[in-house]
Amino acid sequence: MQIIHADIVYSEDREHLASHPDSYIAVENGRVKGIWAVLPEEYANIPVTDYKTGVLIPAFSDLHVHAPQYLNRGLEMDLLLADWLDKCTFPMEARYADTEFAKLAYDAFVDDMIANGTMHACVYGTIHSEATSYLLERMDRKGIKGFVGKVNMDRSAQEDLLEDTARSIRETEEFLEKYSSNCNTKPILTPRFAPTCTRELINGLGILGKKYNVGMQTHLVESMWEAEQARSLFPECSCDTEIYERAGLMDNGPVIGGHFIFPSEDDIRIMQKYDCYAVQCPDATISVIAGIMQTGTLLDKGMKIGLGSDISAGHHIGVYTQAARSVQLSKLKNFYEPEDNRKITFPEAFWMATKQSGQLFGGTGSLEPGSVFDALVIDGLSDAARKLLPEQTVERFCYIGTKHNIKARYLNGAKITD
Ligand code: GUN
Ligand code: FE
Repeated sequence: MQIIHADIVYSEDREHLASHPDSYIAVENGRVKGIWAVLPEEYANIPVTDYKTGVLIPAFSDLHVHAPQYLNRGLEMDLLLADWLDKCTFPMEARYADTEFAKLAYDAFVDDMIANGTMHACVYGTIHSEATSYLLERMDRKGIKGFVGKVNMDRSAQEDLLEDTARSIRETEEFLEKYSSNCNTKPILTPRFAPTCTRELINGLGILGKKYNVGMQTHLVESMWEAEQARSLFPECSCDTEIYERAGLMDNGPVIGGHFIFPSEDDIRIMQKYDCYAVQCPDATISVIAGIMQTGTLLDKGMKIGLGSDISAGHHIGVYTQAARSVQLSKLKNFYEPEDNRKITFPEAFWMATKQSGQLFGGTGSLEPGSVFDALVIDGLSDAARKLLPEQTVERFCYIGTKHNIKARYLNGAKITD
């Protein structure tokens, strides 16, 4: 049992932050036991870790991030999706055939993700099994709860990133075999997106999904260009999402669809039918995608939505920055297309980044009693002339905070020390 004293903030539900100023939280066997303003008598003899002005919040979940693109963050941000993939992203991903290069990059990626308070993540590797295995093992060893996918792509990319279809399926099966029983970081099917996958490949992955009971992550209706490509390459399907539904990929495990910016009614219907997550990646949307998710409208329809850094279409690995950007984008969308969206609130954005997405990883993302204690202590955000309320500290952190404002990190109840 450990007792921590701090201001405590977490999402109660979609619309409300729970704020417990100057309170005590008890953690036992990696889970929150309770929160009190006055420490109960029975705990009086347990030493208290006191963070004084610190605010304790749940750790963040990144539902869409490309680890191999970490080295490209903040570069070539003046390109749009198709050019950005061809000129910037694919050439970088091809370098992960060199596992020694990959190790150096992935070590830095995982460390920076944790430094920025992300303890759960849905991560894309590359087509390369060896490098992607290293990434998964590294995250697993660090205790990160999440999913890592060996990317599948067998058309429309540079030669050295194109897989032979049968080999792609075989190597994916080996990847699943090796890691399906992992506790922390697990494998997930990762067909890149419709333009780079043939029907044969997607169907093959559907068979693996059933055999290994494993979910899928991909990019869905992310740009007008991508949606048109999907329609012309898969004319038998009424929408992008149906491509995967027809292959039996929607009901084997969690399905996480990145972007979901231009969904048709059919896309939304299929995603809701299988209780899938759509992921808003605000920086990526601004930089390379050029479309804004109807976040408020989709939330009101009851869709599950999380947030993603989408490194390196997005440039910042901290999901907290994306919570702020999500609010900003909803206002822009509402200004230009009021019929298409309502503004979202900061509590809604924080909820997407923590409690809503934490459900994917087994009862984390909150500090309510019973939650897995994956948490951060943030501090240093008040002014000498204005002390912020705990919930204001959280909002300011998302807008102007950095990893240096994170003073302590906890994973499964244990403080991260390295
Ligand atoms: N669509 C296909 N591949 C990618 C990628 O790597 N990043 C983004 N943002 N969109 C994609
Ligand atoms: Fe992406």
